Amino acid sequence: MQKLQGKMMCISFYFFAFLGTSVLLAGNGWSAETVHPDKGAKDPAILLVTFGTSVKSAQAALDNIDKKMKAAFPKTELRWAYTSNIIRKKLAKNGKMIDSPEMAMARLMDEGYTKVAVQSLHIIPGAEFDELRVNTRVFGQMIDGIDRIMVGWPLLVDDASMDIALKAVLDLVIPKKRQADEAIVLMGHGTHHPANATYSTLMYRAQLMDPNMYVATVEGSPSFADVQRVLIEKKIKKAYLVPFMSVAGDHAINDMAGPEADSWKSLLESSGIQAVPIMKGLAELDPVVDLWIEQVKISLTHLR
Ligand code: CO
Repeated sequence: MQKLQGKMMCISFYFFAFLGTSVLLAGNGWSAETVHPDKGAKDPAILLVTFGTSVKSAQAALDNIDKKMKAAFPKTELRWAYTSNIIRKKLAKNGKMIDSPEMAMARLMDEGYTKVAVQSLHIIPGAEFDELRVNTRVFGQMIDGIDRIMVGWPLLVDDASMDIALKAVLDLVIPKKRQADEAIVLMGHGTHHPANATYSTLMYRAQLMDPNMYVATVEGSPSFADVQRVLIEKKIKKAYLVPFMSVAGDHAINDMAGPEADSWKSLLESSGIQAVPIMKGLAELDPVVDLWIEQVKISLTHLR
C-alpha cells in the first residue's frame, strides 16, 4: 500500500511538473498577456508613432501633441518614434536622433517596461499602421519581452472622429470671413492600401457638413482632378487649400502651395480659381489631438 501511494505521488509529481512546464512555456512565448512576476510592477509607457517631418515649421504641430500628451498623462513615461526611415536619416545628419518604432520598443524592453501603449498618430489605418501593429506586437512574443501591448487606432476610425476633425478645420483653420460659395479643399495623403476608402467617407462627411468642403488626395482617390472638375462646374471663384495631414510638411509646402505648375494652387489658378493655401497641420488643432489622447486613455485602461 505504502509502495503504491509512493508510486501515485510520483506520477502526480510528474503530472504537475509537466503541467508547470507547459504553463511556463506558454508564459514565455505564446501569450502577450502574461505578467512576469519579477518585473510586473513597472507602470506602462506610452510610445507615440508618427510618419515624422524634417520641416522645421511643421515640428510645432508635433510639439503640440507632446505638450498635450504630457499634460494628460503627467506621470507616464512618453517616447516618440518616426516610421519614415528617410526622415530619420535626414534628421540624423543634423544630429537629431529619432527612433524607429522597433528601436523604441527594443529600448523600452531593455529598460524593463512590460506594458506599452503604442499610439499611432497616423490619419488613416493604412500600410504604416498595419506595419506598426504587426512589428510592435512581436515584442510581446519574446522571452522576457513586453508582456502587454496595446496599439491605439489612428485619427479617422468612424463618422464621429471624422466629424470632429472636419469641424476643427472649419472652426479653427478657415478664416471667419469665408463666404459659403468659397470652397475648402482638404489635402489628404492617399494610399494604394484599401484604407484609402477612408478618404471617400471623409469626403461624404465633409459634404454633409458643408456642401463646398471637399477632400482630394496626393496619391489616391478622390484625386485633385476629381475635385477640380467639380469646382469648375460649380463656378467656384475662390478656394482655401488646407493639408489634412498631421503636419503642414513637404506635401503641403510643395504639392499643395508650391510655385510649380503642377501644384494644386497653380492648377486652380490656371482654371481661374483664386487659391488660398493655409499652412496648418491637424496636430496643431486641440480637438484633433484630443482624439489621439482618447485612444491612449483607452489603451492605458486596458493595460492597468
Ligand atoms: Co507622401
